[in-house]
Amino acid sequence: MKTMILYASSKGYAAQCAAELQKQLGGDAELVDLKKQKQPDLSACTSLIIGGSIHASNLQGAVKKFCSAREQELLGKPLVGLFLCAMEEKEVDTYFQQFPQALRDKASVTGWFGGRIDFSQHSFFVKVLLKKAAGMKESVFAERPEAVQEFARKFRELQLKPQ
Ligand SMILES: Cc1cc2nc3c(=O)[nH]c(=O)nc-3n(C[C@H](O)[C@H](O)[C@H](O)COP(=O)(O)O)c2cc1C
Repeated sequence: MKTMILYASSKGYAAQCAAELQKQLGGDAELVDLKKQKQPDLSACTSLIIGGSIHASNLQGAVKKFCSAREQELLGKPLVGLFLCAMEEKEVDTYFQQFPQALRDKASVTGWFGGRIDFSQHSFFVKVLLKKAAGMKESVFAERPEAVQEFARKFRELQLKPQ
């Protein structure tokens, strides 16, 4: 059973989560950065994980485009998991609605992996924006490694079951 982990990230946290999933799934899953590889060949894979980060309430455009363009193909895969990286816990359910409804219904595993805003990675302009719009004075590290681990555990378990 071949697995692909498809993701889009702006400052690396969703990419890091995707790499951690790859590691925890045993290392032979293929990582696909949807910002670089917009039309990956999915024909050989039977299980898929798709995820990305939220910025200004929006899921990464590359993830949205990919999911809507390839929806029927994705729905035909035996095992699908979805993940999000975001800071606002109370908005997570709403953010998940940016994946197509049918794909959300299909997904056997979903995960919210938290997020981080590291001021050292952002421009002066973005820092001013974050201070004004969100009242942030400094970096916030709100990663949820336990959620990544739990997602991988559930996904692995399902991979072992006959589809
Ligand atoms: C400019 C900016 C806007 C953001 N807007 C939101 C938001 O609307 N809701 C939210 O939950 N998190 C928001 N975040 C937090 C990101 O989801 C978090 O930093 C995440 O880890 C980014 O992942 P990435 O490094 O893969 O892009 C924002 C972060 C930045 C820098």
